[in-house]
Amino acid sequence: MKVLLTGANGFVGSHVLDRLRARGITTAVLLRPAGNKRFIEAHLPHLEVRTGSVGDPQSLGAAMQDVTHVVHCAGCTRALRVSEFHEVNQVGTRHVVEAVNQQQGRIQRLVHISSLAAGGPATADKPARENDPPNPVSEYGKSKLAGEQEVRGACQPEYVILRPSAVYGPRDAAFLPLFKAVKAHILPRLGSGRLALSLVFVKDLAEAVVTCLTHPAVPGKAFYVASPEVTSAPALAGEIAAQMKAWTLPLPLPTAALWPLCVLQEAVSRLTRKPSVLSRQKYAELRAPGWVCNPERLRQELGFVCATTLKNGITATLAWYRQQGWL
Ligand SMILES: NC(=O)c1ccc[n+]([C@@H]2O[C@H](COP(=O)([O-])OP(=O)(O)OC[C@H]3O[C@@H](n4cnc5c(N)ncnc54)[C@H](OP(=O)(O)O)[C@@H]3O)[C@@H](O)[C@H]2O)c1
Repeated sequence: MKVLLTGANGFVGSHVLDRLRARGITTAVLLRPAGNKRFIEAHLPHLEVRTGSVGDPQSLGAAMQDVTHVVHCAGCTRALRVSEFHEVNQVGTRHVVEAVNQQQGRIQRLVHISSLAAGGPATADKPARENDPPNPVSEYGKSKLAGEQEVRGACQPEYVILRPSAVYGPRDAAFLPLFKAVKAHILPRLGSGRLALSLVFVKDLAEAVVTCLTHPAVPGKAFYVASPEVTSAPALAGEIAAQMKAWTLPLPLPTAALWPLCVLQEAVSRLTRKPSVLSRQKYAELRAPGWVCNPERLRQELGFVCATTLKNGITATLAWYRQQGWL
């Protein structure tokens, strides 16, 4: 087996790379010329680096010339322009699928990383299941759903689609502001303050991805990937505060206050040319009643459970942030 991994230098991709290398699986990575290699430095001497982009079909064809499996983890999660989501997550995925199809049957399987956002919001009493009709609420979610449709509609070799819930863990920048807020003794309470969440610790997700490369039960299917432990935004912030031994004061951020905050952050990010976590697109996700999925299919059909508890996952994440001086 030889794997081509896209998005290898990103948060999720770098953990997938760790797992592939730990399992001794020969791996080539697709990197953009200016891609930051800080998370994968240690692997570089043992890797074949193939320069390219999902926006450049020719580079994808060349990158796949001798591989048997592809993990497509590259994606756009923050953007300055809404169209970037579609360019990377839909059109980029189309290019990956076309390149896979052009390899004359050598490629045996594509593992495609989608998102819970493609399915849309769901509450703890009715968590999202794989067969529910999709209802994405943000352009990000719509672009991830469109990416899935590219895979389902055209991929000739076996494929599997994974829909992770929100991912956290070492190297993640998206949850870092919450840790920083807690360190500053602020406990943000979004919207109603009860937002229910599924989360997945990044190392569990990476293990699920590698399992899906060879598992006989997965082809042609989609799977939500999340810890069975459903949490909530306040419980998550509370766990972080408890582990940081930080006293906190609640800062209510009602939905009405979130909108101007998102608009402001988006304006700042346009000026600085750096996409931010908060944006009008993110607002559509933040005002949802919940982001909960049911990972039961993964357990039943693969025997796979994302077993890291929230407590242990936060401990590992906090330790890494501190060790790296991020916090
Ligand atoms: N983080 C989450 O909570 C979460 C949840 C569900 C699903 N996902 C999915 O997981 C995947 C990885 O997300 P992440 O959180 O790890 O994001 P990330 O840290 O921003 O990583 C994104 C990766 O995609 C690469 N990429 C972006 N545009 C590209 C292009 N045009 N050509 C080639 N590579 C490109 C980036 O390379 P550069 O360094 O060159 O930009 C980077 O390696 C995405 O598909 C995302 O939708 C993430």
